[in-house]
Amino acid sequence: MMKEKIDQLLAEIDTLTAQTAEQAEELRIKYLSKKGSVSVLFDDFKTVAPEVKREVGQHLNQLKNKATEKINALKEAVEANGGPAVAGLDLSRPADPIAPGARHPLSIILNRISEVFSHIGFAVEEGPEIVDDWHNFTALNFAEEHPARDMQDTFFVEGEEKMLLRTHTSTVQVKIMQTQKPPIRAIMPGRVYRNEAISARAHCFFHQVEGLYIDENVSFADLKQTLLYFAKEMFGEETKIRLRPSYFPFTEPSAEMDISCTICGGKGCNICKYSGWVEILGCGMVDPAVLDNCDIDSKKYSGFAFGMGVERIAQLKFQVKDLRLYSENDVRFLGQFKSALL
Ligand code: PHE
Repeated sequence: MMKEKIDQLLAEIDTLTAQTAEQAEELRIKYLSKKGSVSVLFDDFKTVAPEVKREVGQHLNQLKNKATEKINALKEAVEANGGPAVAGLDLSRPADPIAPGARHPLSIILNRISEVFSHIGFAVEEGPEIVDDWHNFTALNFAEEHPARDMQDTFFVEGEEKMLLRTHTSTVQVKIMQTQKPPIRAIMPGRVYRNEAISARAHCFFHQVEGLYIDENVSFADLKQTLLYFAKEMFGEETKIRLRPSYFPFTEPSAEMDISCTICGGKGCNICKYSGWVEILGCGMVDPAVLDNCDIDSKKYSGFAFGMGVERIAQLKFQVKDLRLYSENDVRFLGQFKSALL
């Protein structure tokens, strides 16, 4: 009886086929699960007469091994044929296209600025966005009553009288002057915050890159040469620069730098307001009082600093008219800079 059943099942197993993973699994359940026809025979085995137990036992084990091997082979075969088969899935359909991402235009500009300055030995330094009043203002020579400290320009941290969102990345200059010894040569990219009404031309946050160079005998000529090199690398060999006297509490003398308009080449257009020049950064010789505030000997060392807005440079490069686009994360806008090579 038992032997016949085993033979019958052995023959059956030989003929099994499966097209899908589900079918293979159904076969496993049918033969090998607890109530499966092979397993059930093991229960019956208990009743087999002692004299044939050995022979029948061997036969039964053979059946179990064969069934396991066969069903595993079927499972492997359907899986190799296109992965787990799910009902209703058509594997021959073209895949949904996943568009490749793009760098943010401000990142593209920032990377390029870093690259230009890295060629002349400037390291990249970063610092926190929430700083104390001393790093943002006092160390940088802002008088107590300086209007930049006014509540209208600065976001103060609620409940923390002297903590604020940095209004410029000069805070990082303070940090590295305190922690490094000259020669210091670094640029400081980062996000800064000012309490401005949001419009196409102003936002409550934007990005800056500042630069700092401190060593013995650093002169204004070094500053001018460095900025001329930057302007030509960034905007093209034919770019001209001009420096106009200006004022910053932390530099003396101070200047603002214009470049010849990249849009009209200096002939006059609405971007340069028909002057042929566009302002791109502030700069100057680090005020000796700032060096002393940060424990650098102002009798031995001198230095220059400069600071520019990344959005402003991006505007000249990409002619983006509305600043708000940079922070709205609209992929239709962001996707336009995919192939922007500078
Ligand atoms: N920190 C200045 C600003 O935010 C820019 C600047 C940096 C000017 C360094 C001169 C020197 O406007």
